[in-house]
Amino acid sequence: MTLLTPPVAESEPTGSARTPTARHYLMCPPVHFDVVYAINPWMDLSVPVDAGHAVVQWQALKDAYEAHGHTVDVIEPEPGLPDMVYAANGGIVVNGQALAARFTHPERQPEGVAYDAWLRGSGAQHGLVGLGQAAEQNEGEGDLLWDGEVMLAGTGFRTSRAAHAEVAERLGVEVVTLELVDPRFYHLDTALAVLTTASDDGTRPEVAYFPEAFTPEAQAVLRERYPDAIIATEADAEVLGLNAVSDGKHVFLSDRATGMHAALRERGFTPVGIDLSELLKGGGSVKCCTLELRPAPEVRA
Ligand code: ARG
Repeated sequence: MTLLTPPVAESEPTGSARTPTARHYLMCPPVHFDVVYAINPWMDLSVPVDAGHAVVQWQALKDAYEAHGHTVDVIEPEPGLPDMVYAANGGIVVNGQALAARFTHPERQPEGVAYDAWLRGSGAQHGLVGLGQAAEQNEGEGDLLWDGEVMLAGTGFRTSRAAHAEVAERLGVEVVTLELVDPRFYHLDTALAVLTTASDDGTRPEVAYFPEAFTPEAQAVLRERYPDAIIATEADAEVLGLNAVSDGKHVFLSDRATGMHAALRERGFTPVGIDLSELLKGGGSVKCCTLELRPAPEVRA
């Protein structure tokens, strides 16, 4: 992995031991963004949407990634697919293996085809191996979060348990199933954020999560795996403050999640606040707009 020296001036705790690593992301500009169907409680058909404003806000997120040394690839947005901006749902990529999504709702199903084509075409040019679309109901990084050791896998609203088994088999990873119970937090990435991944030197992964979004069983699993996790407040979860992207040091997240910003700073992270108010109307924030393309170990820079 490439270590990064951020080119931007920031107020950071001096002597912070956090080290960012260069990431590769896939994003989709929200030129066709709209709310014309409601498949989660955030989507209100009576609230007008401004796609132009969504593009401006989205561009600021892309610029922030690039200013911090990350690479962003862009997939061509398709007319008639207003949720295609939520690239995290397009698939899951670990160790250079890319499995494209199979969406729950018919409105989003063509997105699985589009992301699969990108992963097998442009993705292959970056050294990724496209495995095709999942056979089971699978909403990619919306429900599948890699902590460097295991795949945390959400279920209850979208991705199925059968999909978890498929991911374990096809990607060759250990899967930890976590059941979600609150419809506001319908994807795992709305209820939990991976802040640092496990590494070979024995460093433990770090996460933040909102316990009430999970069944008591899942809460027990999370407590045991991550005893030092940041426990998010409902106020932060409600503005999708857990829908965050971390490079190991900088955590890109909603500018509204002020409690999370403070908790992150306390742990030596540098929160980077982003205003995605327009995309919140579709039920998504920073992480939803970002699919991480994790290369195979041998092509890692
Ligand atoms: N409107 C989209 C849906 O309900 C939002 C997806 C948000 N993406 C995410 N990774 N949580 O499917």
